[in-house]
Amino acid sequence: MHFQLTKEIKELPPTTNRLQPSALRKRLGSSLFARNIIYHKAINSTNTLAKELAAHGAPEGTLVLAEEQTEGRGRINRVWLSPACENLYFTIVLRPFIQPGQVFVFTMVLALAASDAVKKEIGIRPMIKWPNDLYVERKKLGGILTEFSVMGKAVEYVVIGLGLNVNWNPQEEKSMLYPATSIFAETGIRASRSDLLIEILKSYESYYSRVLAGQIDDIYKKWNELSLIKGREVKIHSGRETVHGHVLKIDQNGALVIINDDGREEKIQSGDVSITF
Ligand code: BTN
Repeated sequence: MHFQLTKEIKELPPTTNRLQPSALRKRLGSSLFARNIIYHKAINSTNTLAKELAAHGAPEGTLVLAEEQTEGRGRINRVWLSPACENLYFTIVLRPFIQPGQVFVFTMVLALAASDAVKKEIGIRPMIKWPNDLYVERKKLGGILTEFSVMGKAVEYVVIGLGLNVNWNPQEEKSMLYPATSIFAETGIRASRSDLLIEILKSYESYYSRVLAGQIDDIYKKWNELSLIKGREVKIHSGRETVHGHVLKIDQNGALVIINDDGREEKIQSGDVSITF
């Protein structure tokens, strides 16, 4: 099921509040993500466009960026609220030579890169809620949506989209499914979206090259250290099934390892987690 936001696109604030693709390109210098920046004031979803572009041969590193999304999407067909010029909404196109089972690590390092960037720029450290949400305490600060296409046994392309709540005031939104927050709501700081974006992309590029070089041990370690749910009692909903358990770790393949109610170790590949605080 797809949700359609029928909201009209309002006039955007003055250009000073907008992301400036040419300035971003300059600041990114020789980065992979400076090669092909696609910027839209308003678009249905940066992931949807990135997938279309990738299917038509868009190069690795393509960055699709929007001030506003009218049909921003989350996992499990959820709506991602995407008001104009308040937050970050972007998607990157990657073409690593990998198999489908290896895609998860590329998502995981975007969560790490975003957490690192918020820590560096703002001073707060978002935690990572498996599989790929960013949280500040019990509130959601950001989310990642990864989609990919397979040709034969290999991945043809991966698109990874991040929505990060920066200057938005989520209390104004009545239609939230879960408690949300933003950098502004947490700190009172009106952060520069450009500075955050540059920092996230630079950090991601560094993680990306480490992953491609097979240097992932430190990355898994850090991902477990920043895990919001490690050591907690959780409920995992996947399809029609709900499993309860105590989280031991996230393993090298990105699976959640729990001790279930029968005292047995169980690996969960995907699902939606709720925490018993
Ligand atoms: C989730 O929490 O389930 C994932 C949310 C992902 C939202 C981002 S915003 C940029 C990109 N475009 C989309 O339509 N979704 C992702």
